[in-house]
Amino acid sequence: MKRLSYVVMVLGLACTTTLHAQEVNSGGVESLRGTATLDETKKAETMKRVIKDKNPIARNYVHQPPMVPHQTRGYRVDLNSNKCLTCHGWKYAAETGATKVSLTHFETRDGKTLSDVSPRRYFCSQCHVTQADAKPLVDNTFEPVESLGNE
Ligand code: HEC
Ligand code: HEC
Repeated sequence: MKRLSYVVMVLGLACTTTLHAQEVNSGGVESLRGTATLDETKKAETMKRVIKDKNPIARNYVHQPPMVPHQTRGYRVDLNSNKCLTCHGWKYAAETGATKVSLTHFETRDGKTLSDVSPRRYFCSQCHVTQADAKPLVDNTFEPVESLGNE
């Protein structure tokens, strides 16, 4: 009996090893992390430097969430507080020089206007992201519209 279970175990091991070998073969398909096989851990890219502070960045199309022209590291947005609104909220914008959140940010998904920022626009970084001077990961032929201040 002992011998039988040993044989079964060895057979099982042999099978999983073959299966494993098949799994890690990328078949030459290249993803954003390159041609590395699945079991290979590639060295992490160095963190890009986020643009620290500059004037608003021209928008590329109508209804684009404007990109964040300053760093946001350490700006908390949670149930109790929203750091972004301490500058971008209507109450503080004149004092801080930040663009006020637009009226659309007060609207619920069924078009009702609330007296404060709508929950669906509360987590700012869901749509507004910081920028870095980095090479695009994939080629892009998108042309921004001229009417919004692009050359
Ligand atoms: C300390 C104040 C302050 C805080 C906090 C702050 N911002 Fe700003 N933000 C500004 C100012 C000032 C500008 C305008 C920059 C300028 O005109 O030079 C700006 C610009 C922006 C813009 C560009 C607006 C446009 O019209 O193009 C976006 C988007 C933005 N911030 C998003 C955010 C988000 C998201 C957060 C939170 C993660 C945040 N900001 C936190 C002060 C702040
Ligand atoms: C679901 C996506 C989404 C979320 C979440 C969101 N925004 Fe926006 N935001 C947009 C879009 C889209 C625009 C441009 C069109 C518009 O004004 O609605 C915009 C515009 C803005 C502008 C420019 C307003 C103007 O008059 O030009 C500011 C400033 C801004 N958002 C700040 C914020 C802040 C601060 C938060 C968090 C409290 C936030 N947004 C959350 C999508 C979002």
